[in-house]
Amino acid sequence: MKLTVDNINPRVRAAKYAVRGELAVKSEEYRARLNKGDTSLPFEQIISANIGNPQQLDQQPITFFRQVCSLLENPKLLEKEDVLINGLDYKTDVIERAKWLLSHAGSVGAYSASKGVPAIQDSIAAFLESWSSTLQAILYHLLILYLGRDGFPANPANIYLSAGASSGVNTILNVICTGPETGVLIPIPQYPLYTATLALLDATPVPYYLDESKGWGTDVEAVRNAYEKATANGTDVRCIVVINPGNPTGASLPEEDIRAVIDFAAQKNVVVMADEVYQTNVFVGKFHSFKSVLRKMQQEHPGKYDGVELVSLQSISKGMVGECGHRGGYFELVGFDPEVEANIYKFVSIQLCAPVIGQCLVELMVNPPKPGEPSYKLYREEHDRIFQGLKQRATALHKAFSEMEGVECGEPQGSMYLFPTIKLPARAAEAAAAEGRTPDDFYCMRLLEATGICVVPGAGFGQAEDTTHFRTTFLAPGTEWVGSIVKFHQEFMDKYR
Ligand SMILES: Cc1ncc(COP(=O)(O)O)c(C=O)c1O
Repeated sequence: MKLTVDNINPRVRAAKYAVRGELAVKSEEYRARLNKGDTSLPFEQIISANIGNPQQLDQQPITFFRQVCSLLENPKLLEKEDVLINGLDYKTDVIERAKWLLSHAGSVGAYSASKGVPAIQDSIAAFLESWSSTLQAILYHLLILYLGRDGFPANPANIYLSAGASSGVNTILNVICTGPETGVLIPIPQYPLYTATLALLDATPVPYYLDESKGWGTDVEAVRNAYEKATANGTDVRCIVVINPGNPTGASLPEEDIRAVIDFAAQKNVVVMADEVYQTNVFVGKFHSFKSVLRKMQQEHPGKYDGVELVSLQSISKGMVGECGHRGGYFELVGFDPEVEANIYKFVSIQLCAPVIGQCLVELMVNPPKPGEPSYKLYREEHDRIFQGLKQRATALHKAFSEMEGVECGEPQGSMYLFPTIKLPARAAEAAAAEGRTPDDFYCMRLLEATGICVVPGAGFGQAEDTTHFRTTFLAPGTEWVGSIVKFHQEFMDKYR
């Protein structure tokens, strides 16, 4: 029988992934027309503010990372060290690191062990174990660059390299979910990877709403209510997903919220899936990892939290690394039953291994040049320029939103996104309905058609009933595009008032 859309896996058909949905497809059509010299459009470029894809939007790769990768890809270059050093300005630590990685990974064209290159697991464990909080208040952003994270032991054997965090999420949800009876608590709004993966697995998303009036914080009462309702309907709720810092919300969770989630998880025996891919994209306060908070709670209350199962995920796609095209990441498992872990191992081994260059980039991310090393100065400059650039763009965009009629947006705290609420005139909602669109979809479509800026309607992430949002990244360089949003918005409001 020939394949048709009606006889393929209905779960694939049902899955939704708005960040690459209709608007993104249309923006690519516009991009192709502009590239062919079409001058009939009212804009000259496409701004893909729909997806956190830093290097597509001109974020430059970190030189140290790419220099090491160039040697990994072409080890013959190592035969000409003098040319590398004197002709191409490669520093000696670049050469040393490449040799070290090659000595452990062998060829980057070869499969690695299923969990990843063991020496890279060791580097990740060392990073997680080391501590950056001694002088945290003032020096956090200085220290995180070379001192690491939690200050609690990490076992390399519990660390799994993955093809980006997405593949880690896919692995864990595949192992946790048995069918429609399995429920997974998902924040709303959420990054649609979660609902899409649950749709593919025919499992049940159990939404808990984040509180917009409290900076999109995680209210454990909302989590509890969602849990009770789902279990009363016979759903076996097995996992809670927390995205911190948040996507699309940008919220950076205070330690109390994390403690409350862990406490809830301990009471109900649900796995905590901590998506921490934006852990270095924090502008307000400090990032608290679930692992460090869990370990503190275990110390404070011996025995009480020993049963908590935590998986925490990190990625090379975000932060100042922005190497999402290289597909690298890892997850750490804490508190899992060894037989369950053996099946997680089996699942990852069925995929063979994560891309080895991506794994090497993970190693470089967790073990970047340190003060006093030859590449440190440039690394530091590049890192700080990216961080400050993101912060400035977030602030500029936030300022523009706060001046727009009917738009409200919390202060940028972290990640790469703003998620403003828009109150649209009733006539806009009518015009949207006449086109068979929701108001947010209608607004975003008109924005794309008028300005070439592609954002994502709030419905793609989930939003409270009767509210309208859109999500934009603040990655695009320059401020001109922010001005185009302001101008479009005014004209839109005037038209439908
Ligand atoms: C919250 C969140 N988790 C996971 C991912 C996937 O990242 P990766 O490229 O590591 O698969 C993204 C990507 O935008 C994200 O925003």
